[in-house]
Amino acid sequence: MENTTDYLNASLQQDDPVDSALRPFSFDEFTGQTKSIERLQVMVGAARGRGDVLNHILLSGPPGLGKTTLASILSQSMESNLRPTSGPVIEKPGDLAGMLTNLVEGDILFIDEIHRIPKTVEEYLYSAMEDFRIDIMLDQGPNARSVRLNLPRFTLVGATTRIGLLTSPLRSRFTLQTRLGYCHLNDLISIVKRSCKLLNISINNEGAKEIAGRARGTPRIANNLIYFVRDFAQQRSNGKISRKVAEDALELLEIDARGLDEMDKRILQVMAENYSGGPVGLSTIAIAVGEEDHTLEEVNEPYLIQEGYLQRTPQGRTLTKKGFDVSGVPIQQGKNQLELL
Ligand SMILES: Nc1ncnc2c1ncn2[C@@H]1O[C@H](COP(=O)(O)OP(=O)(O)O)[C@@H](O)[C@H]1O
Ligand SMILES: [Mg+2]
Repeated sequence: MENTTDYLNASLQQDDPVDSALRPFSFDEFTGQTKSIERLQVMVGAARGRGDVLNHILLSGPPGLGKTTLASILSQSMESNLRPTSGPVIEKPGDLAGMLTNLVEGDILFIDEIHRIPKTVEEYLYSAMEDFRIDIMLDQGPNARSVRLNLPRFTLVGATTRIGLLTSPLRSRFTLQTRLGYCHLNDLISIVKRSCKLLNISINNEGAKEIAGRARGTPRIANNLIYFVRDFAQQRSNGKISRKVAEDALELLEIDARGLDEMDKRILQVMAENYSGGPVGLSTIAIAVGEEDHTLEEVNEPYLIQEGYLQRTPQGRTLTKKGFDVSGVPIQQGKNQLELL
């Protein structure tokens, strides 16, 4: 079907080539996320042992933590083809049918941003996942008829930053749902060192620690910082990344020692200055800082909550004492903040 190449192209373009140079290609190369890795290895080992197709897997968690990487590691370790696509690309049931009927047994269909699949398409996935068949309607009106297509046994690997948006019928059809969390500092340090080695960049322990500490627990951010720090080292120093070089470079990017970037700090600032620390709704904050709601919710907020800068309450978001400290605004003695003092 003509859609097939379109969806492949569209989804491949999402990953830039620089990124793929640093992508771990096996479980052994993948640092951190130990629980998820262990679960995946159990499933892969067992499926291979039985000569079976891998069961459906759902990977969730904030961007840049390795969901796409794990999908490709899964296909490598199953020695099967990876067929990548993404939720927004699948607009109609016909798009999905086109992809599914092009699969061969054992293929891994990777649907990134699976929470963005339209509801009308989602229902077709149920029978595809469960019974490896799909009933599609041909024609409309009096000529309408349904045709059953049998599908090869395949594995659906879904990735999402918003697991809460997935309907429970869809969620329940995944044998394993596993969540990736922000990386620990030591894991990030190893990732920074590995990336530098692959890129032939000279960096010492202290330099690696400095970059890792400011990467918001996220390998993708760490890798991006490396590129900038390398350029900085080349322009302003002897090309080697030391603690001082990393510090000065990241200063220039306005990424502070806590790893908060400009947007994180603006969010905290707006909450402190304009809303006395809240509670304030997410969309109000989004308008005030000029960012999309969903970006704040998927990218900034999870980290700020995990690190204890803000809290989610039924009334809205509230700033913690730690959040007020970053904003530089003294804590307002409003009734909402008293409990935090
Ligand atoms: N555990 C890890 N070890 C090493 N590199 C990683 C790890 N997780 C992610 N990366 C790197 O971070 C980048 C982003 O990962 P990706 O799988 O695209 O994240 P996601 O799909 O969750 O947004 C990749 O280029 C990969 O090289
Ligand atoms: Mg991805």
